[in-house]
Amino acid sequence: MNCRIGVISGDGIGPEIVREARKVLDRVAGKFGHSFDYTELLLGGASIDAHGVPLTEETVRQAKACDAVLMGSIGGDAKTSPWYRLEPSKRPEAGLLGIRKALNLFANLRPAYLYRELRGACPLREDISEAGFDLLIMRELTGGLYFGERKTEVIDGVRTAVDTLSYNEHEIRRIAKRAFDIAVKRRKKVCSVDKANVLDSSRLWRKVVEEVAQEYPQVELSHMYVDNCAMQLVMNPAQFDVILTENMFGDILSDEASMVTGSIGMLSSASLNDTKFGLYEPSHGSAPDIAGQDRANPIATILSAAMMLRYTFDLDREADAIEAAVRQVLQEGWRTGDIFSEGCTCVGTVRMGDLIAERI
Ligand code: IPM
Ligand code: MG
Repeated sequence: MNCRIGVISGDGIGPEIVREARKVLDRVAGKFGHSFDYTELLLGGASIDAHGVPLTEETVRQAKACDAVLMGSIGGDAKTSPWYRLEPSKRPEAGLLGIRKALNLFANLRPAYLYRELRGACPLREDISEAGFDLLIMRELTGGLYFGERKTEVIDGVRTAVDTLSYNEHEIRRIAKRAFDIAVKRRKKVCSVDKANVLDSSRLWRKVVEEVAQEYPQVELSHMYVDNCAMQLVMNPAQFDVILTENMFGDILSDEASMVTGSIGMLSSASLNDTKFGLYEPSHGSAPDIAGQDRANPIATILSAAMMLRYTFDLDREADAIEAAVRQVLQEGWRTGDIFSEGCTCVGTVRMGDLIAERI
């Protein structure tokens, strides 16, 4: 298969982790007889440095010409980086939001899985970590507070800021369908998370999700308030299969879910539209504090590349091979610093990429 892959190396540790993911992809290409053509795309801080803005029309056009985009991470240290002296709409994060919107990437899949080998790194009580968990957050990505009208003004001498949380039924229905579709292939449970005891947008969310559920009698639907969900994630994460939620709640809950796996450095994500196209990126940020030191964990990006092979290219065997190689490396006791525990061997970013590639 011939695959056109856009690559956004990005900022901070982005270039290092993307390099390792490409190493693994190239190994897959050789072993399974595919050809991967890469096009480098600029986004975030790297785009600001080159063009003064975090996202250009050119990047959107190039991304659209690819079958999928693999991304590292964008953004810098908000205290020290000059990018954060720009107005908010010109900062790196605005580029990420812009490309999500421009490519209509409304469905954000964030799996959180506790590897048996990493149970020691799980910050939860041992009886909870022993039960393990394997959940997926289906986060709505192009609506809600992130894209509602916002403004800051002075009213009668008082500084006032407004952000708007709005969803229409079409936006809710299409993300709900995605959640049910994926639940059918998993343990057939959807927990829809909202704040329907307070918010109108959540009350509509709940109604539309119930309508969609009618089309999936084999899937068990439950509802949960977001505050309760935040608590349940640390008390009993094993109860969840697919968590379906709106943009902002999903942002917050996915960081929490990833941390209870022991390291945010392990978690991949996919942002999909209604075609086979997807943007694949680790769930973690650009970690500017450790950039360029060969200390970053490349596994989340490598697993994002596996997701890309699975969801955009339907290359399940190849994706399985990457996931098995990651597991094998962990079983053999190799660890980057973020997931290190006694008795394991600590390696850097490049070595971790080599070890995984060699096992494909
Ligand atoms: C994420 C990030 C982004 C978000 C930021 C960088 C804008 O936190 O992908 O979760 O809030 O969506
Ligand atoms: Mg986030």
